[in-house]
Amino acid sequence: MSKKIVAFGASNSKNSINKKLATFAANQVKDAEINILDLNDFEMPIYGIDKENDTGIPALAQEFKNHLKNSDGIIISFAEHNGAYSSAFKNIMDWISRMEGNTWENKPMLLLATSPGGRGGQSVLDIAVNKFQRMNENTISNFSLPSFFQKFSEENGIIDEDLSNSFKEQLKIFEEAI
Ligand SMILES: Cc1cc2nc3c(=O)[nH]c(=O)nc-3n(C[C@H](O)[C@H](O)[C@H](O)COP(=O)(O)O)c2cc1C
Repeated sequence: MSKKIVAFGASNSKNSINKKLATFAANQVKDAEINILDLNDFEMPIYGIDKENDTGIPALAQEFKNHLKNSDGIIISFAEHNGAYSSAFKNIMDWISRMEGNTWENKPMLLLATSPGGRGGQSVLDIAVNKFQRMNENTISNFSLPSFFQKFSEENGIIDEDLSNSFKEQLKIFEEAI
């Protein structure tokens, strides 16, 4: 039976390079049914305890959570903003972390990051791996792609051989876990 993969770029940019990388990665998973999310479809008020107390958790947070629940594995590629998560992603994570159950539903995760620069979003990826390993008991693999515009092409994916091999190793760990 095919596996259901939910994937998204943790960015609200229309031309998100992280959405491209997450979509590429999801397409590499064998026998998968892919569900690509766009964070612009989950724009909610900026999380605050007073807003939560006054009006509750937005329906869009429940909708986002349902996508996670209905999947066998999750692929996220993080945009790095000032060394950390984009506000668009952090806001969604804050809302869903207030809902019942494990934030990421204890699903296997492939965590990615890319940026135009030479560090490939490694700072935000470190934050995510560190945090998610503590909140999710399932397998988490990770990969960062530096210099996106030099190392990635829409037709051929990751065009640097060493980086492509590292990516495939991490993808295999994810595939074995789902
Ligand atoms: C507000 C802001 C902060 C940024 N901070 C970083 C940063 O800390 N490190 C980095 O590598 N790139 C940084 N960048 C550049 C992003 O890596 C670049 O915009 C990238 O395209 C973001 O991914 P996305 O296309 O998936 O949104 C920043 C960009 C913006 C708009």
